[in-house]
Amino acid sequence: MAVLLQRPHAAVACLLWCSLSGVLSIPDPRQREALIRLEASMQTGGQMVLTDAEQRLNALLFKMKQEEVMRADFPPAMHFFKARPLIKNSPIFSLLHKMPKGGALHVHDLSMVDMEWLVKNATYRPHCYMCYTDSQSIRFVFSSQWPKALPRCSPWILLENLRAKLVNTTDLDNSIMGNLTLFTDQDPETVYPSQDVIWDRFEQAFLALWGLVTYAPVFRDYYYEGLTQFYMDNVMYVELRALLPEIYELDGSSHDTTWTLKTYQEITRQFTAEHPDFFGARIIFTVHRGVNMSVMTGVVEKAMKLQRDFSDIMAGFDLVGREDSGRPLWYFRDALSLPVEKGATLPFFFHAGETDLEGTEVDQNLLDALLLNTSRIGHGFALLRHPVAKDISRKRGVAVEVCPISNQVMMLVKDLRNHPAAALMSENHPLVISSDDPGMFGTSGLSYDFYEAFVGFGGIRSHIGSLKELAINSIRYSSLTPELQEKAMALWQRRWDKFVSENSS
Ligand SMILES: *[C@@H]1O[C@H](CO)[C@@H](O)[C@H](O)[C@H]1NC(C)=O
Ligand SMILES: *[C@@H]1O[C@H](CO)[C@@H](O)[C@H](O)[C@H]1NC(C)=O
Ligand SMILES: *[C@@H]1O[C@H](CO)[C@@H](O)[C@H](O)[C@H]1NC(C)=O
Ligand SMILES: *[C@@H]1O[C@H](CO)[C@@H](O)[C@H](O)[C@H]1NC(C)=O
Ligand SMILES: *[C@@H]1O[C@H](CO)[C@@H](O)[C@H](O)[C@H]1NC(C)=O
Ligand SMILES: [Zn+2]
Repeated sequence: MAVLLQRPHAAVACLLWCSLSGVLSIPDPRQREALIRLEASMQTGGQMVLTDAEQRLNALLFKMKQEEVMRADFPPAMHFFKARPLIKNSPIFSLLHKMPKGGALHVHDLSMVDMEWLVKNATYRPHCYMCYTDSQSIRFVFSSQWPKALPRCSPWILLENLRAKLVNTTDLDNSIMGNLTLFTDQDPETVYPSQDVIWDRFEQAFLALWGLVTYAPVFRDYYYEGLTQFYMDNVMYVELRALLPEIYELDGSSHDTTWTLKTYQEITRQFTAEHPDFFGARIIFTVHRGVNMSVMTGVVEKAMKLQRDFSDIMAGFDLVGREDSGRPLWYFRDALSLPVEKGATLPFFFHAGETDLEGTEVDQNLLDALLLNTSRIGHGFALLRHPVAKDISRKRGVAVEVCPISNQVMMLVKDLRNHPAAALMSENHPLVISSDDPGMFGTSGLSYDFYEAFVGFGGIRSHIGSLKELAINSIRYSSLTPELQEKAMALWQRRWDKFVSENSS
C-alpha cells in the first residue's frame, strides 16, 4: 500500500481496499470498475484532459492498436531488425511519424544520421581513402596526400580509383554500409550471439565511421543532416551527447574541442533560422568511461570551462561506452565532484543502469548517478531493481531516458512488451522516449522508438494522452531554462493542435 498512498487518489484507494478486504465473497462490479479506472489514471497520460478532437483521434488510434495486437507477427515481440519493415507499413507508425514528438533527449553525435547518408555522400567525396583491418573492419581518412599506413590495416586505397575500376559499386557500398551499422538482414540472433559480440561490433563500427565524420567538411554536413532527419521526423529539439573530438582538415591540420562546440553552435543557429518551427539543440559533452583518472579530471575541468563560456549550447556532461566493461561512476567520484567543490555549474546526464548485471559494482551506477545529482538518467534499464533509486528519481523529477530499440538490439530485453519501462509507464514515472544511436540500429529520428513504447510496452491501455504526456515530458525534463521551456511548449502546442485537427476526422 505504501506506493498507492503516495498517489493523488490515495484516499479512494484506501477506501476501496478496506472494503475489498472485508467479508464480501463476490467483489462488487462497481468497485472493480473503480479499481480499473484508478489504475488507468495512474499511468503516463492518465490525468491528461483530452479535447473532443483528441478523443476522436484516440478512438482511431485505439482501433488501429487493437488490430495491430491481433497480428500473428506482432512487431514489438520480434527483434527490431525483423520488425522494421512491418512497423514501417503500420498505420500507427505513420501517425506517430507525423506526430510532433517534442525533443529527443538521448541521442549520440556519431550515430544520429542514417548510415546510408555516410556511404552515399561522405565516401563519394574526393580524397577519401579506405583500408581493411586485421579484424575484418574498415577505416577511413580524407587526405590531400597519400596518407601514412595505419597499424594492423591494409595499405590505403583511394575509393575514387577503386570505384572507377568496378562495373557495379553496389556490393562495395553494401559492405561499407555493413561495417557502419549493426543492422543486418540475416538472423540477428545468429550474427550476434552475445552481448560481448554485439558490443565489440558496436565499437568497431564507431572506429570505422570515425575518419569519415571527423573530417571538417563532412562533420558540418553530417550534423546538418542529423538535424534534418530529426526535423523530418517531427522532432523539434535535440539534446546531443557529443564527444567533441578533434576535427581534421584535408591537409592534416586539426581543430580543438572548442572549435567543435562552436561549430555545433553555428550550425544549430543556421538550421533553426532556416526552420522556424524547429526549436534548437544543445550539447551534452561526453567522454569514454574507459579513460583513466587523470584524463577524466582534465576533461571535467574542460567541461566546466565550456559550460561557463558557451552556456546557451552546452547542457552538461556525461560518460559513454559500455557500462559493464567500463569504470563505474564511483571510481571517478573525485573528478565528478570538482564542479561542486569549485562552485561551478556542470549539470550531469549520466548513463546509468544500462545493464543486467544485478548487484555488481556497475549496477551501483544508478544510485551513484543520483548521489552525484544527475539531472536525468540515461537508460535506467535496471531501475526496477533499485527501489530507493526509483523513489529518488520520482521525487526529484530525475527523468529516465528510455531507449527501447537500443535496449533490445544490445540484448537487454527480447520482447519489448517486457521492457521494464512498462512498469514505469503504468505509474507515470518521469520518463522520456529516445533513440540513442538510430544510425547504428537502422532507424532515423524517434518514431520507431515511439512505436515500440506505445504499441509494445505501453500496452493496449496507453492512449493519446500518454503520447501527449511523453512529448510534454521531453520539454519539461529538458535542460532548457524555464523561460525557454515555456517558449518550446508554446511552439509544440501549436504543432500538436494542428496535428490533432488534421488527423482526427
Ligand atoms: C553531400 O551532401 C552535401 C550537403 O547536403 C551536398 O552539398 C553534397 O553535394 C553531397 N555530396 C555528395 C557526393 O553526394
Ligand atoms: C549491381 O549489383 C546489384 C547486386 O549485386 C544488383 O542488384 C544491381 O541490379 C546491379 N546494378 C546494375 C546497374 O547493374
Ligand atoms: C566490412 O567490410 C569488409 C571489407 O569490405 C567486408 O569483408 C565485411 O564483410 C564487412 N563487414 C560487414 C559486417 O558487412
Ligand atoms: C592516462 O591516460 C593517458 C592517455 O591514454 C596517458 O597518457 C597517461 O599516461 C595515463 N595516466 C596514468 C596515470 O596512467
Ligand atoms: C548534490 O547535491 C547536494 C544537495 O544539494 C549537495 O550537498 C552535494 O554536494 C551535491 N553533490 C554533487 C557531487 O554535486
Ligand atoms: Zn546512450
